[in-house]
Amino acid sequence: MKVDIYERFFAGLAIALLVVFFGAMVVSAFGSSVVLTNPAELVDPTQLDSTPPFDQPGVREMTPGVYEAVIIASTFQYTPNEIRVPAGSTVTFRITSRDVVHGMQMTEIPFNVMLIPGQVTQATVKFDEPGEHLLICHEYCGTGHQAMYGKVIVEDAAAQGGQ
Ligand code: CUA
Repeated sequence: MKVDIYERFFAGLAIALLVVFFGAMVVSAFGSSVVLTNPAELVDPTQLDSTPPFDQPGVREMTPGVYEAVIIASTFQYTPNEIRVPAGSTVTFRITSRDVVHGMQMTEIPFNVMLIPGQVTQATVKFDEPGEHLLICHEYCGTGHQAMYGKVIVEDAAAQGGQ
């Protein structure tokens, strides 16, 4: 069989590109700390108001310096939509959605999760520096999507005066 030299060249190029793209996929999947959240804890999205811990959304101090932030996402808000913790604290977020798929991304902190009705998304963040971080819904969830955001306020522990 005779294959034209140009055809052979472009066939080789196409195969080389496939190898490069597949390699890039493998590198990004295993080489850049991309991880899936823990196996999902399941929850009935229609029963959140009577399902702990989602019956009492908010921030709780579990042990000194260690907090749990329980948040419910719904169109188009986070409940609560403001979290306050002192600098130096470690916060485990436990979040779920009441209705459709939402997302949550935090500014300046590597935190980016999907919020899926029926599943509990859990992720832990250590806040070393005082400051404010926006929480942004990055998953298109309806007509009010662009207005869906919250805030984490990391307070200067020293400035709180003896708390
Ligand atoms: Cu919630 Cu977009």
